[in-house]
Amino acid sequence: MKIRKAVFPVAGLGTRVLPATKAMPKEMLTIVDKPLIQYVVDEAREAGIEHFVFVTGRNKGVIEDHFDKMFELDTTLEARGKKAEQEILAANQPEAGAMSFTRQQAPLGLGHAVWCARDIVGDEPFAVVLPDELVLNTPGCLKQMIEAATALDAKANLIAVEAVPDDRTHQYGICGVGKRHGKIFEVDGMVEKPPKGTAPSNLSITGRYILQPEIFKILETQERGAGGEIQLTDAMIGLSKSQKFYGVEFEGERHDCGSKPGFLRANIAFGMARDDLRDGLRAEMKKYLEK
Ligand code: G1P
Repeated sequence: MKIRKAVFPVAGLGTRVLPATKAMPKEMLTIVDKPLIQYVVDEAREAGIEHFVFVTGRNKGVIEDHFDKMFELDTTLEARGKKAEQEILAANQPEAGAMSFTRQQAPLGLGHAVWCARDIVGDEPFAVVLPDELVLNTPGCLKQMIEAATALDAKANLIAVEAVPDDRTHQYGICGVGKRHGKIFEVDGMVEKPPKGTAPSNLSITGRYILQPEIFKILETQERGAGGEIQLTDAMIGLSKSQKFYGVEFEGERHDCGSKPGFLRANIAFGMARDDLRDGLRAEMKKYLEK
């Protein structure tokens, strides 16, 4: 199965991290020295994605600017001989024509955001990547999923899953576990944010999906579900009546960067994973904790 396009829903208001997100998109929050959106775009590029589809909203223009060339900056770095900085910028830059931006005009939910990308995605399987969630691992989560997909039939759908404590299952989409095939399993039922004590398992749906284009037809008429929003999970339940869904228990550490403690933890984890920062960061933390 060849996956060429990835959809990044980036229209959310980021209310969990106010006031940082009052005038700045939450996807531009920085983990170490890169915005969240850059991490997930890099993860998608590593997985072989060729086209990046951003479903944006009001006040999100800076995301588009981030992936544009900055003529003044390039010229100044060139004139000052700052080669390393020039290389960083070049590495962050998808090819011209490899990005599309469309708007979700009202906050109707994740399912609606994905549906907004239907004309750009067209009739081919595609990935959905939520920038709130980062997975620290090489290879990245999406690459692991695409590799898992090669052994499956061309009409398979995949979701990345991770076990969460029982008292947190109500915060996520949760899936039931069917037959296992090595590292992956057949999904046996899904439910979005089940009330406490009713979850079919503790395997939560994380922010990575590989979906077949038939999901768009279902999303078109999908009614509002949990939280009064059009839920992607509900549309996946619809699609699972005619197509298989597989859960992938990926390798790597998941970070929920849309919450304040998760965001702070991610900064430390991604900092500690960097050869150029580890020793300095460890020394600073040690000094601070001994205060
Ligand atoms: C969304 C999905 C949910 C999933 C979660 C992962 O929820 O609807 O199934 O578990 O992302 O982050 P949200 O966090 O947008 O409420």
